[in-house]
Amino acid sequence: AVANIGVVGLAAMGASLSRNLARHGNTVAVFNRHYLRTQTLISEHGSEGKFVPAQTLEEFVGSLTKPRTAIIMVKAGEPTDEMINALADLMEPGDIIVDAGNAYFKDTIKREKAIRARGLHYVGCGVSGGEEGALLGPSMMPGGTDESWQTLGPILKSIAAVAEGEPCVTHIGSDGAGHFVKMVHNGIEYADMQLIAESYDLMRRGLGLTPEEIAEVFEDWDKGDLNSYLVQITSEVLHHTDAKTGKPFIDIVKDQAGMKGTGTWTVQTALELGVPVTGIGEAVFARGLSSTVELRQEAQVKGLGGPKVEGAFSASAADPAERKAFIEDVRQALYASKIVAYAQGFNEMEEGAKVYNWKLDLGAIARIWRGGCIIRAKFLNRISDAYDSGEQFGSLLFDPFFKKAVEGAQDSWRRVVASAVAAGIPVPVFSSSLAYYDALRSKRLPAALIQGQRDLFGAHTYGRVDEPGIFHTLWAADKSEVKQD
Ligand code: 6PG
Repeated sequence: AVANIGVVGLAAMGASLSRNLARHGNTVAVFNRHYLRTQTLISEHGSEGKFVPAQTLEEFVGSLTKPRTAIIMVKAGEPTDEMINALADLMEPGDIIVDAGNAYFKDTIKREKAIRARGLHYVGCGVSGGEEGALLGPSMMPGGTDESWQTLGPILKSIAAVAEGEPCVTHIGSDGAGHFVKMVHNGIEYADMQLIAESYDLMRRGLGLTPEEIAEVFEDWDKGDLNSYLVQITSEVLHHTDAKTGKPFIDIVKDQAGMKGTGTWTVQTALELGVPVTGIGEAVFARGLSSTVELRQEAQVKGLGGPKVEGAFSASAADPAERKAFIEDVRQALYASKIVAYAQGFNEMEEGAKVYNWKLDLGAIARIWRGGCIIRAKFLNRISDAYDSGEQFGSLLFDPFFKKAVEGAQDSWRRVVASAVAAGIPVPVFSSSLAYYDALRSKRLPAALIQGQRDLFGAHTYGRVDEPGIFHTLWAADKSEVKQD
């Protein structure tokens, strides 16, 4: 046995991860169902480090030093389950199986339990950063036991992205904690992407700017508070010209957003936990709506009416100074809405930690998201500062830095939402985030009326503002109130 780590599944992500491991001094056993892939990896990249190619799973496991540590990078679902079992059959107590795909955290909890019962360690590990991240340094979110982290920690630290001198990996918590946190990361990713898309739409349809001009706006934004990977790649996409037609690339791509399901899990889980993640929810629905092709076509046929000057902010579009001011408003709206999306995502993690018994270090999570992952952004430093301060604040929106930032942005935010609504441009995440902020701020909400309605039609009872207890009004009789025991 010679390899300190093994990788099973050598498609794009697995191959990149293996190369990253080998480049950082690890001896990497590699196995793929079809040996040809293994051979290709070795012939093309064998010189990058020490690889131990295996033709069979037995050979693969046999080449690992103890405790044997194998990272699975195969398709989610059945292929993952099959591989876990096949590996577990060949491994011995104390060995470690790592699932580095995007698995649903509840599946990870179940798998961890089953594998633990066999004396092995099972680590569900979130890996973010795509293929390039896997090769050059991803952000990683491993769950599993403390004991498995002893072995796995140094290996993962050797290949992680580095942000301000720190590797972007930390032991998140037991069983499914890593995959849970990766799921929330993806939910925030959805919200952030949709917010950027809404900003683009406002500048394109509202102000009539060209993709090229908008790309420059994003480049400019990247220099300030919004500095982030997603803003950078947005400029790149908008700058790109389609080779076949010479048109802007953005105009030849079908406007139907795909998704593999992690955003949906984030929202489902939030609903179960009772945490309002309205920004992420609207982002998932926006992707879904974009892909309801027949319904959208039918709406075109039916010619659903809109406002008089649809899609255009005539005044701001014509006047350069106003245009500039509106672009600044959009930037502020994006910043404020993004803070709301993070605040909601972090609330989901806080609640998940309580329900699933994890000790999540939210400051550390923000720190490992500063590099390597898709949502890497400058402002994560501020989030880690907020959580590291040790203050109990319930929502990021109460942290002094973010409170001030949102208060400073809110006039712009309101103008943007109002203009979008007047022009008939949908801004679901901008507007729902603002509604969340306003609801949170409101001393009284119309929920009192909901309670009245529920009590009237279903005797669902209500609480009073002036007296403890549970009450019901006899609506169909003399409308007197009864206090329930
Ligand atoms: C990451 C990404 C990645 C995700 C893709 C596709 O952190 O590297 O989140 O894990 O699979 O971005 O996700 P959708 O197909 O759902 O957009």
